[in-house]
Amino acid sequence: MASVTISNVRKNYGAVPVIHGVDIDIHHGEFVVLVGPSGCGKSTLLRMIAGLENISDGTIAIDDKVVNHLEPKDRDIAMVFQNYALYPQMTVAQNMSFALELAKVDKATIRQKVDAAAAILGLEPLLDRKPAQLSGGQRQRVAMGRAIVRNPKVFLFDEPLSNLDAKLRVAMRAEIKSLHQRLGTTIVYVTHDQIEAMTMADRIVVLNAGRVEQIGTPLELYDRPVNRFVAGFIGSPAMNFVAGTLQAGQAGLKVASGAVIPIGPYPAEFAGRQVEFGIRPEHIQVADGNGLEARVEVVEPTGSETHVVIDMAGEKLVALIRHRISITAGDAMSVVFEEGQGHLFDADSGQRLTHTSATAAM
Ligand SMILES: Nc1ncnc2c1ncn2[C@@H]1O[C@H](COP(=O)(O)OP(=O)(O)OP(=O)(O)O)[C@@H](O)[C@H]1O
Ligand SMILES: [Mg+2]
Repeated sequence: MASVTISNVRKNYGAVPVIHGVDIDIHHGEFVVLVGPSGCGKSTLLRMIAGLENISDGTIAIDDKVVNHLEPKDRDIAMVFQNYALYPQMTVAQNMSFALELAKVDKATIRQKVDAAAAILGLEPLLDRKPAQLSGGQRQRVAMGRAIVRNPKVFLFDEPLSNLDAKLRVAMRAEIKSLHQRLGTTIVYVTHDQIEAMTMADRIVVLNAGRVEQIGTPLELYDRPVNRFVAGFIGSPAMNFVAGTLQAGQAGLKVASGAVIPIGPYPAEFAGRQVEFGIRPEHIQVADGNGLEARVEVVEPTGSETHVVIDMAGEKLVALIRHRISITAGDAMSVVFEEGQGHLFDADSGQRLTHTSATAAM
């Protein structure tokens, strides 16, 4: 196990800065997921930890030892990539042994390590097969086996599941998580899939355009996003946002159509501010006729739940209904915003207006 300390790290490709001073403290044995949109710098950061990319400024330390100038092979880390290129002419066992043979580890030790990794990953019956004779998930496990036999202090994963189909991805997600529980090794895992991040991470780092937006446990990010970006990125279906002006006397939010939507109480000093009101789809519920008026635009049943796109005073919102309802497009619908579940973000900066729920008694 090892800690990884990233301090004010910057990266420029030529004159172009892509990482703008990032600080992340990763603890011993922690499973940290870096998440963010395409091009935000996730792989670059991971490659800098691995030593595959040099660091323009700042430091990266593994177990308090600055590794900025250490060769990748001297960092005691193992990386699993998205395209986990196995050697096609080698068997599973040979693929897993290869790095150890290069390192001149004796044959008995290699055999023992490969057997142990194969047992952990359920690869024992497949050791004599070639990669072409394996399924996608099995190949992915061999790629992880190659990393495990090296007994690294830190595992780095760069979107290891993105080549797999949806069902296999869910299964492998659980496998990697349980692998982490058994080995206890520090893991830094990159994905742009926020569900993967939510389900696997001890802590999530949300990156955007080379900057850290927020670091926290999955539920901290979900319940208390510090800004509009994190609020919109974490959660599926995504949080609804309604832009408008907060009215004096706490009457609500005046939206583009001129209507005022009651959003519940907010501090009096917020009156007059331009904001975005955020509410998650599961926090919009069906009311018995005495709620807010809306019109149904689209109904999307998923089986376990129904996503309903509604129009409220010209604003489009998605409601997630967990019980069966019979409604169709064009129907009138009465809804309520669940008490205390609203979020307010400044329209310009996108920052959360208050860290206590802005609409605590809604
Ligand atoms: N070798 C390079 N030379 C110049 N620019 C690069 C290089 N590698 C990456 N970049 C740029 O750096 C930025 C960050 O790239 P990076 O690969 O880290 O993104 P990412 O978050 O991993 O994205 P994705 O989710 O698409 O994999 C991007 O704007 C990319 O175009
Ligand atoms: Mg990437």
